[in-house]
Amino acid sequence: MKRTKIQEILLCEDFGKEVTVKGWVRTHRDSKVVHFIALNDGSTIKNVQVVADTDKFDEGLFKQITTGACLSVTGKLTQSPGAGQASEISAETIEVLGQCPSDYPMQKKGQSFEYMRQHGHLRLRTNTFGAVMRIRHNMAIAIHQYFHEHGFFYFHTPLITASDCEGAGQMFQVTTKNLYDLKKDKDGKIDYSDDFFGKMTSLTVSGQLEGELGATALGAIYTFGPTFRAENSNTPRHLSEFWMIEPEVAFIDLQDLMDLEEDFIKYCVRWALEHCQDDLEFLNKMIDKTLLQRLNGVLKETFVRLTYTEGIKILEEAVAKGHKFEFPVSWGMDLASEHERYLVEEHFKKPVIMTDYPKEIKAFYMKINEDGKTVQGTDVLFPQIGEIIGGSVREENYDKLIGEIQSRNIPMKDMWWYLDTRKYGSCPHGGFGLGFERLILFVTGMQNIRDVIPFPRSPKNAEF
Ligand code: 4AD
Ligand code: MG
Repeated sequence: MKRTKIQEILLCEDFGKEVTVKGWVRTHRDSKVVHFIALNDGSTIKNVQVVADTDKFDEGLFKQITTGACLSVTGKLTQSPGAGQASEISAETIEVLGQCPSDYPMQKKGQSFEYMRQHGHLRLRTNTFGAVMRIRHNMAIAIHQYFHEHGFFYFHTPLITASDCEGAGQMFQVTTKNLYDLKKDKDGKIDYSDDFFGKMTSLTVSGQLEGELGATALGAIYTFGPTFRAENSNTPRHLSEFWMIEPEVAFIDLQDLMDLEEDFIKYCVRWALEHCQDDLEFLNKMIDKTLLQRLNGVLKETFVRLTYTEGIKILEEAVAKGHKFEFPVSWGMDLASEHERYLVEEHFKKPVIMTDYPKEIKAFYMKINEDGKTVQGTDVLFPQIGEIIGGSVREENYDKLIGEIQSRNIPMKDMWWYLDTRKYGSCPHGGFGLGFERLILFVTGMQNIRDVIPFPRSPKNAEF
């Protein structure tokens, strides 16, 4: 008999109907006459209760029904007398598809997240990770839906690239060279001409540069794919492999870009509230009691918009009033997470979009303001997360862009194709990158970015 998903079973009121469910045992308890088995198949956070009469099955079978075991159960759908559940299954046949011995690592409830990470291959079977992964899926759908509805084309940019978009030199090299026998030229440099691509290549840190080629042809595109950063940041906000969404739009200015950022994030949060109710309620109860309140709050807030210079002023005033930061505040510095969090969590108590940063602390492609000192970059700063979006209007002026590339010693020969967008029919344009896992952190209330991606990659960690 074809199995019915538990999510569907719990909504079905066709009592008396024969159904088959398959899933993993969450709990098994018995009174003398009857056994209660809570079964979960991952389709929902909720379990279905299987009721099995003790005298209908032999004792050996019940012994195999341990936490984590996989069962196929056929029986009648009945109206549940228990509070809080509509239907249950009165078992007629039970087949143990996979036994689960008592050393099953996910057996005990309330294990630490660190323990879960060490058992990353099995943690997906827990309630928390099930909820997070279903929400992650729903957020991916929301993102595609948003851009599709707004006339953006899904655009695929390469994962293997020969350019460093962010110019931070934090790239993982891709090579088929024999590392035991590296040939070097007379200056001690590696000769890449005989490497697979005939030049030095890496995993991409961002699809933006190619995204700009798409936007300046199709008008509006977005990318949604994995990106890689070899930065040695061991924090609860950084991954070495993370997913990024990068919309890029022709004919957009800074105001419109900020509107897009705010509208997009709110759409995703609203989607979560509308489509992931059960999972959010579970996380609100078990992980973060203020989660639902925070998500609803963001929808009501208008994000604060302020310039970097205004932000620095607020931070300096805080210092003058005795607030202690680890890193000193002065115009020109890159904001540390403590500064971002002060602005968002203590000063404004709502999300902040900061703009017009000193050009020295931002990437080469950002549009230079008339003051010659600041650029039209925009970061969206969120409570508990810090930077969730980084974006900018792009410098569309050919000469100014070349000036930046030269002054930063970026090898011009690698950038010829990018510069052609400014040479031939250049247009004002801009875009941003949203860190997918940072969005999931916000939407789930989870504390560590390694717990919102199925298989995290971080320094010294590539297990599973
Ligand atoms: O600010 P970033 O570095 O911007 C870019 O890559 C631009 N090319 C985006 C664009 O304008 N198209 O990264 C964008 C976002 C950050 O705001 C953050 O949310 C996320 O990507 N991010 C990370 N997420 C997890 N782990 C890391 N190591 C991350 N680095 C950046
Ligand atoms: Mg950034």
